[in-house]
Amino acid sequence: MSDRLADALKQFCAKLREVVEGGNEVAIISHLDADGITSGSVMATALRRMGARYSVRTVSGMNASVLESIKTDGRDFYIITDLGWGWTFPLRNAIGDKWLIIDHHQVPEIEASKERQHDDGQILNPWNYGIDGGREVSAGGMAYMVATTLDSKNRDLSAMATVSALADRQDQGDKKSFVGLNAEILKTAQSLGIVTVDLDIILGGRETSPVHEALAYSLFHYIEGLTWNREGCYLLLKNAGIKLRDNNGRWRVLAEFSQEEKTSIVEAIANFVAKSDKKSSDIMRDDLLGYVYTLTREDRRTQLRDAREFSSLLNACGRKGSAGVGIAICMGDRNTALNAGEEIMSSFKVTLRNSLSNIFAEKWRLSDDGKTVFVNGDGVLEEDMLGAVSTLLSRSPSFRGKLLFARTLSSNGTYKFSSRKCIDCQLEANLGILMQECAGALNGEGGGHSEAAGCTIPNHALESFIPCIKAKANDSEVTNA
Ligand code: C5P
Repeated sequence: MSDRLADALKQFCAKLREVVEGGNEVAIISHLDADGITSGSVMATALRRMGARYSVRTVSGMNASVLESIKTDGRDFYIITDLGWGWTFPLRNAIGDKWLIIDHHQVPEIEASKERQHDDGQILNPWNYGIDGGREVSAGGMAYMVATTLDSKNRDLSAMATVSALADRQDQGDKKSFVGLNAEILKTAQSLGIVTVDLDIILGGRETSPVHEALAYSLFHYIEGLTWNREGCYLLLKNAGIKLRDNNGRWRVLAEFSQEEKTSIVEAIANFVAKSDKKSSDIMRDDLLGYVYTLTREDRRTQLRDAREFSSLLNACGRKGSAGVGIAICMGDRNTALNAGEEIMSSFKVTLRNSLSNIFAEKWRLSDDGKTVFVNGDGVLEEDMLGAVSTLLSRSPSFRGKLLFARTLSSNGTYKFSSRKCIDCQLEANLGILMQECAGALNGEGGGHSEAAGCTIPNHALESFIPCIKAKANDSEVTNA
């Protein structure tokens, strides 16, 4: 960690300590996605351990009505996590300096320099310290830095920071490793024995699901013909000579397979993909293998043990309007909240499957020009499922190397877009900036990270928005060219 960041953390925490020690009630407001849920929970846990009076709630984004609620709900102080930029001045006007912001979104330079002029040590954003908030640290990671600066006993929250980095797809190093601050946080978690790291096949249910089911229901890849096809996955692996049951007739789970058997599983999947595209099969072989992060204190039978699955469960809670359940799980509830979270996850998977069936049922909903893929979810895709659909499709070998833009018409008549870089995308485009620029020019608003971003645009702006995106995507070069 740089000295500048360490100094900023000290100043930030001194302010927070003063607020808590003054007996003030602190309201945490966070984003409702998985990184928002984790970052809000990390801060809430740190405050709870300080004996603070606090509350935590999530919102879909900062906007005028959230600002109005801040003005009127009468809490003494606000901590805002994972909620982007642009609200410094309205906040100052509304509640003076009774707020702190923890974020990791990239702020356009012109806005960042304005914010810096008026920032009295109240905004903690890695980009201000030369750290890439898209790859090197999540909002949960930044909240963890605050928590451990407040008290080194909070180092156990490194497990939650690992979950949040995976939630924001920051496993972008070699074989899905972490880089930068995330790698440092992970090292702490490993040294405490609360996270272990192994190279393995990236599938859900590694310790709980029969392997063909793990393949069929994994949300980490989308393989046309296999995803959601339990029978097809069973036949594929059986025909490849994989022993799916043990000598007692019990289904075997991935954790029980030898290295040699795992290689055969990967080969079987890669050969299946090769039938439609040889190049994709090599990429698939690579993409299926990577580091898996196990939370050793979690029960083997739960979806919380694998940090990627934990992040998927939180994502489902947020998208299904139950972010509070996710927060309760992050803060330690392993009874009611965990049961509720698992039910939400099951129903989320059904909704996701139905959303994709509806889209694939009508071929015109997909348009692919070789560099960009547009997915039209108007009328069949709930707006809360948009990000989940774009994430899953971006894991499809069919769209490898491309930029994916999924859209739907929201209840208030605006269009919402969610964009992702697909597997093996070498284009240098920064989706966060691309969304900000194209939406911003049309009275919309957007942002995010290089690999994953979103925006909202007025209904009438659609015809200009799509050419803007396509033009910028076409200008984008391949990074290693
Ligand atoms: O909604 P989705 O999952 O596609 O969002 C991807 C990223 O883009 C998130 O980090 C989110 O905070 C950001 N985003 C944004 N402004 C929007 C929509 C999404 O900054 N209007």
